[in-house]
Amino acid sequence: MARISTQWRKAGRLLIDRMGHWRFQVAAMLHLPGTYKRYWDSRAREIDAAWGQARDDFPVLAEIIRKIAPRSLLDIGCGSGRLFPLYLQLQVEEIVGQDISGEALQIAGEHCSSPQITLTGCPLLQLAYPAGYFDLIVSNRVLQHIPGSRIHKVVGKLAELGKSVYLNEAIKDDPLGETFYLFKHDYQQLFGACGLTAMQQGTIGAQHWSVFGAARPLPGS
Ligand SMILES: C[S@@+](CC[C@H](N)C(=O)[O-])C[C@H]1O[C@@H](n2cnc3c(N)ncnc32)[C@H](O)[C@@H]1O
Repeated sequence: MARISTQWRKAGRLLIDRMGHWRFQVAAMLHLPGTYKRYWDSRAREIDAAWGQARDDFPVLAEIIRKIAPRSLLDIGCGSGRLFPLYLQLQVEEIVGQDISGEALQIAGEHCSSPQITLTGCPLLQLAYPAGYFDLIVSNRVLQHIPGSRIHKVVGKLAELGKSVYLNEAIKDDPLGETFYLFKHDYQQLFGACGLTAMQQGTIGAQHWSVFGAARPLPGS
């Protein structure tokens, strides 16, 4: 009898856990203010544990950073700062890590602190930097979480703030399995509308990446 009630309790906890997970995923899809932030806060440690040590994109990004030689770099949705050691190694002078999740930024600060790095939870559309301030903006698996109703404004903001924008985001042709809650935008069209074109592109595993910039090739490409 005791064993049966323990199993029911376990099943109940699992069900509540699953329902919470789905509720946040739906909130993320709908971009409900507050709930969306709580969703990312609730996932920050789990994301860091699963992907915080991933380095598969370092060689591609390192080559891009060497070519552009950015003085200033904005990493939107920087999460736990996975890419910061690469930026520091390549001697980027000013690194701004932005994320909607205070929890992710807290982990980023614990992992990697340096006078070159500034962390901010300021919403993307409210980032107050002069036009063209950043030599390079990095968006790695972030824009794919922003729904179609908001993506135009966000891309417009990135095109305003950055001279070049590196994207590694799910797109329609990616053979990715985890897709139902990812928004697969047409970045050529979105950045094209802001006067930026894809200067370089390639794949990392099954993931497509591109660098958008004004129609002038990167040095050496
Ligand atoms: C899959 S993780 C990627 C983390 C990091 N870019 C990396 O490559 O390791 C997605 C990150 O985007 C952040 N994020 C999601 N929507 C955002 C938004 N609208 N503005 C800023 N950050 C956002 C999340 O909090 C999370 O840290």
